[in-house]
Amino acid sequence: MTDQSAKFTMDSEQAELPRRSGTIGPEVVDVTQLYKDTGLFTFDPGFSSTASCESKITYIDGDNGILLHRGYSIDELAEKGDYLEACYLLLYGELPTAREKEDFVYRVTRHTMVHEQMNRFFTGFRRDAHPMAVMVACVGALSAFYHDSTDIADPHQRMVASLRMIAKMPTIAAMAYKYHIGQPFVYPRNDLDYAENFLHMCFAVPCEPYEINPVLARAMDRIFTLHADHEQNASTSTVRLAGSSGANPFACIAAGVACLWGPAHGGANEAALNMLMEIGTADRIPEFIARAKDKNDPFRLMGFGHRVYKNYDPRAKIMQKTCHEVLDELGVRDDPLLEVAMELERIALTDQYFIDKKLYPNVDFYSGITLKALGFPTAMFTVLFAVARTVGWIAQWKEMIEDPKQRIGRPRQLYTGAPQRDYMPVQDRG
Ligand code: SDX
Repeated sequence: MTDQSAKFTMDSEQAELPRRSGTIGPEVVDVTQLYKDTGLFTFDPGFSSTASCESKITYIDGDNGILLHRGYSIDELAEKGDYLEACYLLLYGELPTAREKEDFVYRVTRHTMVHEQMNRFFTGFRRDAHPMAVMVACVGALSAFYHDSTDIADPHQRMVASLRMIAKMPTIAAMAYKYHIGQPFVYPRNDLDYAENFLHMCFAVPCEPYEINPVLARAMDRIFTLHADHEQNASTSTVRLAGSSGANPFACIAAGVACLWGPAHGGANEAALNMLMEIGTADRIPEFIARAKDKNDPFRLMGFGHRVYKNYDPRAKIMQKTCHEVLDELGVRDDPLLEVAMELERIALTDQYFIDKKLYPNVDFYSGITLKALGFPTAMFTVLFAVARTVGWIAQWKEMIEDPKQRIGRPRQLYTGAPQRDYMPVQDRG
């Protein structure tokens, strides 16, 4: 970290603010003392120019379409590794040795069951409840069962809570799906790997054996890796802010699930597929491109654009490749949705509006087609994103809790409301 300073002058106000540089990426001006020194706040509602924390977990170079987890590129992790190895890397900072990986997989595998009484939560929901509503409720409810891993001051309990979250999210997600479609819950199996077990819990039925397709399981595992963590995105920032008050980790993850649900964030995969189905055929694409450009039309091309990536989202490329692998394995040669998606991408990438605004497909653009082909309904797409992102949320939460400089997050504001005024009795209000 090279420490220099940035001089700030405004009318008679002057301040010298520390400048700090990280390993890679933009420098920061440390404004921690700005208000104390000048009586001024910074103003950045969407946090476009704000670093909310110092982190060692994930680095994104938006201009060059680069995503690194603890220094390793997402391309290599997704192609050469697997999801639980990526989880270990995000949590511990290093790739595991063979022995460490075997131990980690053993520990996660044996935390996949949920308390039997959790089954009763589901019966309180309508069958047509959105599975994300169920996830928010059930993940938050975990804090009612696992009191032995909510003392955030205890490193052992923090690690147990982390393992429990990673292990139990697929089980809760599968239960939400089974409840949604009216089928019985399927218990986790310790003889299956993470992705195989998830597919089995979702698609097995008591009446017949469920045969795992290794190509589809590998694709599911890779999709989990692609969605594992992504720096200080909206849901991760939500988890960090919730955790900064000392809330227990299960409640913090539930807050992250709630934030992820929005169509501007994790809900975009569901929205992108619904958009492709609404477009229907390639000849209707120009109509939707025109709507996306129309300032008076709130419509946006779902699965396009990104706050950080002003180049192709590296995850989207791998997702597109995975999409083709899944469709080929299932013999879905001419999925009309894929044809519309590829034509929409081709047109958008050559359209000056999208070029000028640097709008490229993001991770959500091809994931919907892939997940639909795997057999999931659109309502489950964001649930799968939440399963995958749990490790990122919990790793970032742990990093925040273990930061000795950690304080409760408490932003200020630019107040533009009414000045102080006297109370008026109701009879005098006209
Ligand atoms: C994820 O942060 C993360 O890292 C998130 C994520 C993760 O892994 O955690 O990567 C996952 O959430 C991916 C993004 C998924 N969301 C979508 O696909 C929804 C569609 N995309 C947009 O809503 C939008 O692009 C955002 C929300 C993703 C980013 O919004 P920004 O950074 O606030 O950009 P903006 O809204 O200021 O847009 C800049 C300009 C605007 O035009 P002007 O007002 O400057 O004229 O680009 C236009 C926007 O109108 N624009 C789009 C567009 N996205 C932005 N126009 C048409 N279609 C779009 N998709």
